[in-house]
Amino acid sequence: MPNKTDALLSLLAGQPVIPVIKIEEVEKAVPLARALAKGGLRAIEITLRTPAALDAIRRVAAEVEEAIVGAGTILNPKQFDEAAKAGSRFIVSPGITQNLLSAAADSEVPLLPGAITPGEMMMALDAGLDFLKFFPAEQSGGIDFLKALASPFNGLRFCPTSGISAKNAAEYLAQPNVVCVGGSWVAPDALIKAGDWAEIEALAHAADALRRPHSRTAG
Ligand code: 3PG
Repeated sequence: MPNKTDALLSLLAGQPVIPVIKIEEVEKAVPLARALAKGGLRAIEITLRTPAALDAIRRVAAEVEEAIVGAGTILNPKQFDEAAKAGSRFIVSPGITQNLLSAAADSEVPLLPGAITPGEMMMALDAGLDFLKFFPAEQSGGIDFLKALASPFNGLRFCPTSGISAKNAAEYLAQPNVVCVGGSWVAPDALIKAGDWAEIEALAHAADALRRPHSRTAG
């Protein structure tokens, strides 16, 4: 069986910031994905928080060759399946459940599960997953919490998400157990609504410049 952590790392590890996106109008998805990719952020997470989300994933998967589209806010196996069928290359969940782990085990599409407690991290490790979304990052202890996890969980790598912005992203990315961070600041709702793709491209470009000071890749 292919190592799914490696598959996930090969999609995400080259990119410091994974945009977390909410799409209200499906026709915004393609130009948004193009603008982000042009700014250097090819991998994007479209959250299943709106009725347009699955169609948005479908369109980006079909029309934006340079994008790596993933689905976020996946809460259960049904949504996992729908998102995978829509063309998601990776799946992100805010937390971890046995049901989701089973769905992921049956799928070729890799899962980045959320985890915030040591017990949840142990559950992920039991399932063979060692690259996790650390969520909600800032609200749960942020960088100090990540530092405390480094010794007992020295094999775990994280994509911290929530409360991260251009102000604190570099400090997160400087942590040896951080592969990338997730955040909505590169694609704010107001700019999507306004169709301001130039500004979103500029935000993506600035985020892409937050290169990690250490290199963590597959293996
Ligand atoms: C979310 O839950 O919306 C994501 O984790 C993104 O959080 P953010 O808006 O704080 O970047």
